[in-house]
Amino acid sequence: MADGLTGPVSQSSVVNPTLSMGVITSYIIVVGSQGLYYAMLNQMVIPDLRDEFVTDFIWPAIQGNAMYEDRYLLGTALARPLIAKAMVKVAIEEGAQYVAHGATGKGNDQIRFELGAYALKPDIKVISPWRMPEFFKRFPGRNELFTYAEEKGIPLPVTPKTPWSMDANLMHISYESGVLENPDHHAPPGLYNMTVDPEQAPEQADVIELEFKKGCAVRVTNTTAGVTKTNPLEVFVYLNELGGKHSIGRVDLVENRSIGMKSRGIYETPGGTILIEAHTDIEIFTMDREMRRIKRDLDLQFGDQIYKGFWFSPECEFTRKCIALSQECVEGVVTVKLYKGRVYILGRRSELSLYNEELVSMNVQGDYEPTDAGGFIKINSLRLKEYARLRKEQQN
Ligand code: ARG
Ligand code: SIN
Repeated sequence: MADGLTGPVSQSSVVNPTLSMGVITSYIIVVGSQGLYYAMLNQMVIPDLRDEFVTDFIWPAIQGNAMYEDRYLLGTALARPLIAKAMVKVAIEEGAQYVAHGATGKGNDQIRFELGAYALKPDIKVISPWRMPEFFKRFPGRNELFTYAEEKGIPLPVTPKTPWSMDANLMHISYESGVLENPDHHAPPGLYNMTVDPEQAPEQADVIELEFKKGCAVRVTNTTAGVTKTNPLEVFVYLNELGGKHSIGRVDLVENRSIGMKSRGIYETPGGTILIEAHTDIEIFTMDREMRRIKRDLDLQFGDQIYKGFWFSPECEFTRKCIALSQECVEGVVTVKLYKGRVYILGRRSELSLYNEELVSMNVQGDYEPTDAGGFIKINSLRLKEYARLRKEQQN
């Protein structure tokens, strides 16, 4: 292994707003988001994974309304299995035996990169400098890395003036560590990159129509600006732009890392937030109630599987297939207003909706006997009455 470790390389996905990865072939493969790695720099491969990220990772996440602990839209967690997949692909092509990453030994990313790599190439070996004593004795923390980078003239996207860790990709930016480690320390001014402050958001709303097929966004039309996009990547980039303009998708939270500790994170996921809100709406509009109850359980599992690094696992493959199957009829158009940090749903229409205007109308009887409701209530009240009777008996 030491053969390949010869010179300093600073490689970072932090500065790159797209999802990219750095690959140093020949001896070892390096992907970095926060750290410095040593490698023999023979060749660098930076594939553009953005289309695949949208169609194969973000779209399934939207179909599954995927969240971790009710709020985190999983922007980092979703990118990791794709990066692992791309690293392994290049490793195979180049005959490399090792891959490396710069995640710390305390977080989720190490788990995600490595589980992904092992799942796709069981005989791969992983170099994780932050877990190697020779590395962490020399660089016990980020400050030592700052000093080292300065000495060696290596430019970093994070400076002592912006003392937090960022992970940026097409879907989101996450901020954690540094001054944010105090969970009561408010986000410093200027932290956010993808979204404007709500106070700066325009007075003029944007109204968009989002069309879904099989639970995926196939078209966005901005009726205010007269813009239409249909290519998945373009749809997503455009929603990010609009969400950013209207300050949509910021969350500040404390989460439970897989490894057991709690950590404070700040996220901005503008496009993802708009999509989840609109998708949830069209899903409820088109999907059978009981089917959706089962699907919501799967959504919860899905969010956990993504967060915990099990994208390439039997259980997650199963979850994804079931969720995709549930989306067959999730089709239609949701009209949405974006204004001052919020996504307002204005209306929805669908050829496949189970909504029956005649059936629900208070003005039309339809194929429904109001007297039947009396029987329904009577049967459902049976056990409530029994429960009340027993409780009364116990009190006496
Ligand atoms: N806590 C988030 C997660 O586990 C974000 C991690 C951010 N990663 C980073 N390299 N700064 O998904
Ligand atoms: C890291 O530990 O490298 C970033 C945070 C995380 O992975 O949870």
